[in-house]
Amino acid sequence: MSGVDVQLSIDFEVTPADLAGADAIVVGMPTYHHDMTQSTKKMFEDAAVQGVALNGKIGAAFGSYGWSGEAPRLILEILANKFEMDVVKQPLLIKYAPDDAGLAKCRALGRQIAERIATAS
Ligand SMILES: Cc1cc2nc3c(=O)[nH]c(=O)nc-3n(C[C@H](O)[C@H](O)[C@H](O)COP(=O)(O)O)c2cc1C
Repeated sequence: MSGVDVQLSIDFEVTPADLAGADAIVVGMPTYHHDMTQSTKKMFEDAAVQGVALNGKIGAAFGSYGWSGEAPRLILEILANKFEMDVVKQPLLIKYAPDDAGLAKCRALGRQIAERIATAS
């Protein structure tokens, strides 16, 4: 979808100001040891300590997994409950690597978020 700028960033490079400046925050994270990475937790912790206001922004989470897939669920729960974001209700979970159907779901999620941004602005 045209007219929506996308910034791709690695979690340890993301600052609270980056989060504050975005209309939508989409976090991709594989599940390792039933959890998200420490660097993603630190990204959220830094934003919380600085009191960054993310309430009302669009949020979503996706990620690959092998058998339990907690990371995207945990991230979505933090976006909704700690930061009071307007989240896409279900995280997008892809087992190991996406096939064509999985890639289509990823694109559909991106399109859904872009449309919500365009509608809100
Ligand atoms: C050391 C290790 C721990 C893992 N722990 C989990 C886990 O707790 N739950 C789960 O669903 N998948 C787990 N997986 C599977 C990964 O989530 C899966 O391989 C995923 O596709 C990795 O994504 P990546 O290739 O982008 O790193 C684990 C994989 C490894 C190698």
